[in-house]
Amino acid sequence: MITKSSTLQQLPADLDRERLPRHVAVIMDGNGRWAKRQGMPRIMGHRRGVDALKDLLRCCKDWGIKALTAYAFSSENWGRPLEEVNFLMTLFERVLRQELQEMMEENVQINFVGNLQALPPSLQAEIARSMEQTRQNEDIAFTVATNYGGRQEILQACRAIATQVQQGLIHPDDIDEVLFERHLYTTNVGDPDLLIRTSGEMRISNFLLWQLAYSELYVTDTLWPDFDRQEFHLALRSYQQRHRRFGKV
Ligand code: FPP
Repeated sequence: MITKSSTLQQLPADLDRERLPRHVAVIMDGNGRWAKRQGMPRIMGHRRGVDALKDLLRCCKDWGIKALTAYAFSSENWGRPLEEVNFLMTLFERVLRQELQEMMEENVQINFVGNLQALPPSLQAEIARSMEQTRQNEDIAFTVATNYGGRQEILQACRAIATQVQQGLIHPDDIDEVLFERHLYTTNVGDPDLLIRTSGEMRISNFLLWQLAYSELYVTDTLWPDFDRQEFHLALRSYQQRHRRFGKV
């Protein structure tokens, strides 16, 4: 995958390799506003957003971050104009088809999470193919949340666990955090250490509600298409200045 033109190939000297986040999540906000500012249709912002995401993925890999999770389409995004929704679905499909080979070469494991059954069948097929082909790759786990909602994810976990209780496979007392997390979409990548949101909004927007419990939050006014390695460097510097307490003193 991924544009090779960027500078900052190496981890910047002021970052501590030992204290990098293992898992970074991003809410890629501001594509529409970016396009509007350039006098372009909103969809051009999404196109440029893909380039920014590709570069971030390469950067995470270059700098030794093991997991990146991106919020590509929320379950609420169906409420956008039909044209834009159709454009996004086609874009996801095209990007997947075009980038699969390079993801193999880059040793990226791709995973899609969300209510995938509601996506167009041709996109579902492309998703299944890319997940299957990259299953053994292990340099970085790249998770794309598509038709994803945090509350819905928690509800589907509750339903699955309730069914197991009903079938007598487990007892209600067996339900703890470890068991619950096994029923979340992110069971293989765990919780993000750092959540980045672009375009200045101070919201979680139904993203990874359970998993973000102790994540460090970083919000920048930069619009997503302009989020580059320099911006990521700033986010990591801010992360490394934090003292994570996980509720303790
Ligand atoms: C938010 O900006 C962005 C989106 C809803 C779409 C993000 C999707 C991508 C960048 C493509 C990812 C592609 C793959 C294959 C993973 P917005 O439209 O809400 O911007 P606004 O707030 O300025 O209107």
